[in-house]
Amino acid sequence: MNFELKTLDLVGAAALKSDALIVLVTANFKPGKDELSLQMAQAMKAGDLQSKPGKSLALYRPVGAHCVRAVFVGAGEGSAKQVRQAIVAAIGALRSGSTGEKKVVLCFASDASAQAVHAAVLTLAEASYVYTTTKAKAAVEAWTLGRVTLGVPLVAPVKSAFTQAVATVAGIEMAKEWANRPANYATPTLLAQAARSLSRLPKITCEVLGPKEVAQLSMGSFMAVAQGSDQPLRFIVLNYSGATKTQAPTVLIGKGITFDTGGISIKPAAEMDEMKYDMAGAASVLGVFRALAELKPAINVVGLIPTCENMPGGRALKPGDVVTSMSGQTIEVLNTDAEGRLILCDALTYAERFKPRAVVDVATLTGACVVALGHVRSGLFSTSDVLAAQLVSAGEVSMDLCWRMPLDDDYAEGLKSNFADVANIGGRMGGAITAAKFLQRFAGKFDWAHLDVAGTAWKSGAAKGATGRPVGLLLEFLLASPMAKVAVKSSPRKSSLSKK
Ligand code: BES
Ligand code: MN
Ligand code: ZN
Repeated sequence: MNFELKTLDLVGAAALKSDALIVLVTANFKPGKDELSLQMAQAMKAGDLQSKPGKSLALYRPVGAHCVRAVFVGAGEGSAKQVRQAIVAAIGALRSGSTGEKKVVLCFASDASAQAVHAAVLTLAEASYVYTTTKAKAAVEAWTLGRVTLGVPLVAPVKSAFTQAVATVAGIEMAKEWANRPANYATPTLLAQAARSLSRLPKITCEVLGPKEVAQLSMGSFMAVAQGSDQPLRFIVLNYSGATKTQAPTVLIGKGITFDTGGISIKPAAEMDEMKYDMAGAASVLGVFRALAELKPAINVVGLIPTCENMPGGRALKPGDVVTSMSGQTIEVLNTDAEGRLILCDALTYAERFKPRAVVDVATLTGACVVALGHVRSGLFSTSDVLAAQLVSAGEVSMDLCWRMPLDDDYAEGLKSNFADVANIGGRMGGAITAAKFLQRFAGKFDWAHLDVAGTAWKSGAAKGATGRPVGLLLEFLLASPMAKVAVKSSPRKSSLSKK
């Protein structure tokens, strides 16, 4: 999909030739004297058109407009959430009648805030995303949008939010693409190739380590997870350099289990197919880099992706095995299905060499987190109140929510082992927290946060597929840092959407 931003009032928007014109009607909408406004005023008077979010009215070739179809839709006070609701309703109305619109004009009839514009771009992209990679071309008859023109009362105040949103969409779509791919189309090797191809973009470099290099680094825990698979592991190191070398980087770590069978502690068969998205954390890191290359903020970011399969087999890791992590700590593997933490712990130790400003790891880590928070908010764990607050607020602003969870030391009780420094599981209760407590042991040398996205990176059911979360949250977090100045041509941007 293709987006452009234009200064347009209702008359201007109606004058553009389009397949569909969507008009967001907010409570403060004042009808003008043009044809369309008069029709809207009449409909409002009759109660057929309301500013109530999601209430829509559709017209075919309305007088005074050059569109095939028009949808007027209530957008409340024009908040980001209400705009999202409105667009979902408008798309629903359009969808029922056609196979897709090539040219769409979205008109903010009254005012448009930075957050509303951001929400509009993300919602439109979300609605028209289709996965095609492993479908025969002929079978692809999905409904999509072509070119979308956003008409706002004034471009300048929302230009940077628009630019950020378009880049975020590119990042989200990359993350979705890789998380959706079946494991035979997304092996560790292929994931590393995708990362490598990102290094063609501005300011990005990429280094890929294989089994030999990883052995040299003594990543015994990561290697142990990979040893049951015929697919060789990869350790991906991405670098985005937007600032001088002296600026400490933020390190993002993404769990990259391209398929999680559970290993010898094998998972039940039902829904095991979904474990192809156990690299959604890794995919979100790739997506963030994709967006950074477009926005070019003055920050440094390192991306680390340990990636491998978790398989049973003759060489596989066994329950009770003790492995030695890169940190030197030994780990008793009581359950081979708790493999995410085993690959992340070595990546956390590797992160020390960057002397980071902060380290944020992203992982589809526990089913327990899905039980705790469902599919609405990601679980957030952090040893730093400041970092936690920044991530929570980035989540609110980007509508990619997270919720802080506790890290009391008492939760680590169950991780005690008679045969190693630590065990990799700590009992059934509070499973998302014990997993985080395990990781915390390897994150002592920097400010650290952990996002458990097991419930938010994927949708089950009929609309099964990846969500691209938490790309929006992470990007907003990075861009909101005081050093970040996005190189947008006009209107120097302030730090984030929240401070428009
Ligand atoms: N990848 C899973 C977690 C997961 C579960 C992600 C459901 C998405 C949806 C992880 O590797 C795992 O298997 N965790 C175990 C941990 C347990 C053995 C302590 C779990 O959650 O059951
Ligand atoms: Mn597992
Ligand atoms: Zn897993």
